[in-house]
Amino acid sequence: MNESAKKKLLQMIPHALYVLTAEANGKTASSTVSWVTQASFKPPLIALGVRADSQTFEILKQSKNFILNYLGENQKEIAQKFFKHTDPAESSIAGEAFVRSPLHKLPMFPHMAGYLECTITDIVEQGDHAVVVAEVIEAELGSANGPLKLESTGWSYGG
Ligand SMILES: Cc1cc2nc3c(=O)[nH]c(=O)nc-3n(C[C@H](O)[C@H](O)[C@H](O)COP(=O)(O)O)c2cc1C
Repeated sequence: MNESAKKKLLQMIPHALYVLTAEANGKTASSTVSWVTQASFKPPLIALGVRADSQTFEILKQSKNFILNYLGENQKEIAQKFFKHTDPAESSIAGEAFVRSPLHKLPMFPHMAGYLECTITDIVEQGDHAVVVAEVIEAELGSANGPLKLESTGWSYGG
């Protein structure tokens, strides 16, 4: 295989940035992710790549539900705060205030561009990232303009 072409082409797949939140057994996951795509109209499904050895994945497997918080176009600094695990305070995580989502009462950030509340339907554990398929069960726009495009940040994740 032409490794350099593979890397360049995989990095050409456009991505935005999100903060995924989930809770299980008293633990809270809050992680910046980028590998997200819509996967079905009816039912509305999305698919995500989640690092198989991450705490986030451990919590997701138990929680079954999660929130995908869309970062706003000017929220690169917020994205940076969620590259590593931070234990939440009562109503904030890494200094970002959250409220509870309507259905599963998971942390949701109203000052971002919006959120999807999702229920996991399938998990495919093949590579270093697991493919998580989930149904969108609730959605609301937030106060920021989105999305935060990965290409606008100068960061790269993929290849
Ligand atoms: C630009 C960028 C994009 C990322 N996208 C993803 C992603 O799509 N899926 C993922 O599992 N991790 C992604 N990560 C890594 C997670 O942010 C990080 O591994 C995670 O928050 C820490 O794992 P933990 O749950 O063990 O604390 C990305 C990191 C960067 C820098």
